[in-house]
Amino acid sequence: MADNQPLFQRVAVIGLGLIGGSLASAIRSHNLARVVVGFDQKPEDAALGVDLGVIDQAATTLEQAVRGSDLVVLAVPVRATRVVLEQIRPWLASDAVLTDVGSTKSSFVADVKAVFGNLSPRVIPGHPIAGSEKSGIRAANPDLFANHKVILTPADDADAAALSGLTALWEGTGATVLTMSVAYHDEVLAATSHLPHLIAFSLVDTLAGEDENMDIFRYAAGGFRDFTRIAASDPVMWHDIFLSNRDAVLRVIDHFTQDLDQLRAAIANGDGATLLRVFSRAKAAREHFSKMLSGQAYVTNNTDKQVIFSMQPGGSVRGDIRVPGDKSMSHRSIMLGALAEGITEVKGFLEGEDSLATLQAFRDMGVTIEGPEDGFVRIHGVGMHGLQAPRGPLYLGNSGTAMRLFSGLLAAQPFDSELTGDASLSKRPMGRVADPLRAMGAVIDTAEGGRPPLRIRGGNPLTGIHYEMPVASAQVKSCLLLAGLYAEGVTSVTEPAPTRDHTERMLEGFGYHVHRDGATASVTGGGKLTACAIDVPADISSAAFFLVAASIAPDSDLTLRHVGMNPTRVGVINILRQMGANIEVLEERVIGGEPVADLRVRSAELRGIDIPEDQVPLAIDEFPVLFIAATCAKGRTVLRGAEELRVKESDRIQVMADGLAALGVETTVTPDGIVIEGGQTIGGGTVESHEDHRISMSFAVASLRATGPIRINDCANVATSFPGFVDLAKQTGIQISTEGEF
Ligand code: S3P
Repeated sequence: MADNQPLFQRVAVIGLGLIGGSLASAIRSHNLARVVVGFDQKPEDAALGVDLGVIDQAATTLEQAVRGSDLVVLAVPVRATRVVLEQIRPWLASDAVLTDVGSTKSSFVADVKAVFGNLSPRVIPGHPIAGSEKSGIRAANPDLFANHKVILTPADDADAAALSGLTALWEGTGATVLTMSVAYHDEVLAATSHLPHLIAFSLVDTLAGEDENMDIFRYAAGGFRDFTRIAASDPVMWHDIFLSNRDAVLRVIDHFTQDLDQLRAAIANGDGATLLRVFSRAKAAREHFSKMLSGQAYVTNNTDKQVIFSMQPGGSVRGDIRVPGDKSMSHRSIMLGALAEGITEVKGFLEGEDSLATLQAFRDMGVTIEGPEDGFVRIHGVGMHGLQAPRGPLYLGNSGTAMRLFSGLLAAQPFDSELTGDASLSKRPMGRVADPLRAMGAVIDTAEGGRPPLRIRGGNPLTGIHYEMPVASAQVKSCLLLAGLYAEGVTSVTEPAPTRDHTERMLEGFGYHVHRDGATASVTGGGKLTACAIDVPADISSAAFFLVAASIAPDSDLTLRHVGMNPTRVGVINILRQMGANIEVLEERVIGGEPVADLRVRSAELRGIDIPEDQVPLAIDEFPVLFIAATCAKGRTVLRGAEELRVKESDRIQVMADGLAALGVETTVTPDGIVIEGGQTIGGGTVESHEDHRISMSFAVASLRATGPIRINDCANVATSFPGFVDLAKQTGIQISTEGEF
């Protein structure tokens, strides 16, 4: 509170246990109310509250506590709620805010309705996700809520002032406030809190019963202690919670029992594969625990994270580096490895959020995947027909590749599935895959305009088709080839211009023949994949930022190791060389069917060019950074035939033009490209990345030739393709730092 005015005049806390006492104490110590009055059914606890400094005044009756209070907090066991509400009803002022701290919210709402006849807009149910196995006023701790979450479940017609006052109060205790519906709260808490408590109580009880001398406790290892700590929680409180959240708890108990039975059967049958699958999926989930809580497994919704890149101008770029693994190949290694027979080992896997989304989605479909650890992944293939129905929608984060390739695979499965993604992915066109898949017999629903989510109906047999792709897209080609693995007969795809061919190469590596005839690739359905070893080279799309950086910054000399040099990906090198870049290709070799080389790049005087249209698909992801090269070149650069850029993670033509304009660089945008007059001064300024990873990294590179500091907003998505970008950029000489969590 800037003006240091307390938020409430008089707060009544009814029930001075651990939570009520801690809240009262936090309100006092942060000066969030003028007076905190406490009531407890044990008068000695209220008196103790005054002695301990937890409350200002002890009320001896509920009337004394509630009368004249503008906030009343119920912190009683949930089963006592109704009785207490009946008792306070005559004294509760009509403009007072009423809240609670109970673990179940539908029961509170039901009690309020039963007592008051309706849910007044000034009743805001609440639940702090904090506590401990300790109970009672002596355990009250004013810091209990700091850095914890508090869930409020306001009704749609909740009073805005009441909600904002209560939110500010909780925030004043150091908590973060979330709001959600009552029903959702109860489902989530049944799973994340109530079930674990039930299991802890039950386990300790079972073991104590089995071991009369309690030796088990004497010899208990750390695991037992960690796991059962919460079995020391307050039995009355928990008995209340289970009875109040009965339905949601029963659902989750049934689910758990079923899974436990499955593990029991696996042990009984010596089925190590099931044990390994469940344990490695759980280990991965535990490691990403906080993200799991939001139901999104590995992949965060990066739009929630604020990361700003902040660059000082100038510098040169030097050193010897290896950028992370190729994103396209990383996705495909998981997909084909999962469907293969046998164990596929992958080295150099990109641990970026896009490819991790793919990895997690296959785990969700029952595939055991060990790792990733330092780029090493071991996939226990389930065979072409071994995927299991996922329990919920597959969340694919920012990844267009995952969504389009998955749609081909999932259209052929016997189960239904749903594919969702973040805000950027949710705007991208999926009709380009849904339409040809429908022609093969797939049943797919999209949202309006062919956008995600995709709902795919399982159990529809596919038939091979010939498809002439209207746009040059490796994603569409790959989608149809993957569907073609399952289709009756031959599926063939003709592309209007060559696009990356990692799917075709990798299928061959897994022993599945892909027939190529000029611009047409085809597969015959019904074959199988055999596990193999994959060595993923460094991603040329990530290397591209450093190729441009070392070219434009004076006095630069940088070596990039083990870069993938697939001819369908080297457009950026061809274009930069045509602009006069000094790039040496060293140690060319072929690894696992893909060409690889080291690249040495030194500063050069770049010149503007007309970019040959045949290079566009071969450099499709590199244009944002090529626009920076063009800005630093002498003369005009013209790009045509690149309308695809408008439907990438952002409209990369417009967003780059806007970003350049923010730095004082004029460009001319055309429907399918851009014209950039080189040699303009890049000034300092603030650029909007529109949450597009490649836009963020491109402007980081631009700082090398800028005349003032540059800030780039919304850079969290850099983690989708290039984890460690900032550190590597710093190491080579780019003067970059970040603000926010990264
Ligand atoms: C990709 C293909 C390209 C590219 C994307 C990755 C792939 O998309 O932009 O980053 O892995 O197949 P399109 O095929 O839609 O052009």
